[in-house]
Amino acid sequence: MLDIRTVFRGLPALDMLDQPLMQADNLYPVLPKIAGILQPKVYVEFGTRLGHSLIALVHGSPQSFERILWADNESYVPGSNEAAAKNLEAYYRDFQRALPPQYTFRSSPAEIPPLLNGLKPDLVYVDGDHSYDGTIRDLEIAYQIGPKVIMVDDVRVPQDPQIGEAVRTWSASHGFPHFEIVTFERNMTFFDFVPDRMPSLDVQFRNAGIELFEEA
Ligand SMILES: C[S@@+](CC[C@H](N)C(=O)[O-])C[C@H]1O[C@@H](n2cnc3c(N)ncnc32)[C@H](O)[C@@H]1O
Repeated sequence: MLDIRTVFRGLPALDMLDQPLMQADNLYPVLPKIAGILQPKVYVEFGTRLGHSLIALVHGSPQSFERILWADNESYVPGSNEAAAKNLEAYYRDFQRALPPQYTFRSSPAEIPPLLNGLKPDLVYVDGDHSYDGTIRDLEIAYQIGPKVIMVDDVRVPQDPQIGEAVRTWSASHGFPHFEIVTFERNMTFFDFVPDRMPSLDVQFRNAGIELFEEA
């Protein structure tokens, strides 16, 4: 599989490609491995910006994706939703020689549930609002749409601790089992709602060479 960092360089509207987080071995290159394990058909993303995470996940399992829905209020980059759509289209056209799956975007996570009409996502990625309350709100929306897996970014960022605090409070209040993977300067938490998955997701991740965070 072509390295995702090489893929990024071939797409029309991706930026920051020389920054350390874009070059890190343990950030974007981990996402295709995750998608390869989960093989998502229905994917929801809160916080897409120009589509780096979306395309990195799609790259790991391009044939499985059937329906993609994302929400972004474009507070980081005006016009980013259309730009992310262009990147996704270009990815399928240039790298897969195929039509993209059905995709839709909105400006707010709250607008996504009615679009699903009860369809349950295989994966929801929460990487949007960085406030404590906003993270809790996005996690609640993600949970209410009945996902198999929720993945949350930025859960251990010393200069931006409120996401991790929100995730830990939310998971403790619901009693949901979860685990954390080590990524470049941020880490991600996973909630797996598939009962009795064998081997468990954390074991599958470890077997794929993904490093897990161990609680001290
Ligand atoms: C960290 S970036 C997402 C990066 C993306 N997942 C990636 O890896 O390429 C966060 C995105 O969330 C969006 N965002 C921030 N607060 C939001 C909110 N309350 N509702 C919707 N989108 C929001 C920003 O516009 C920004 O594009």
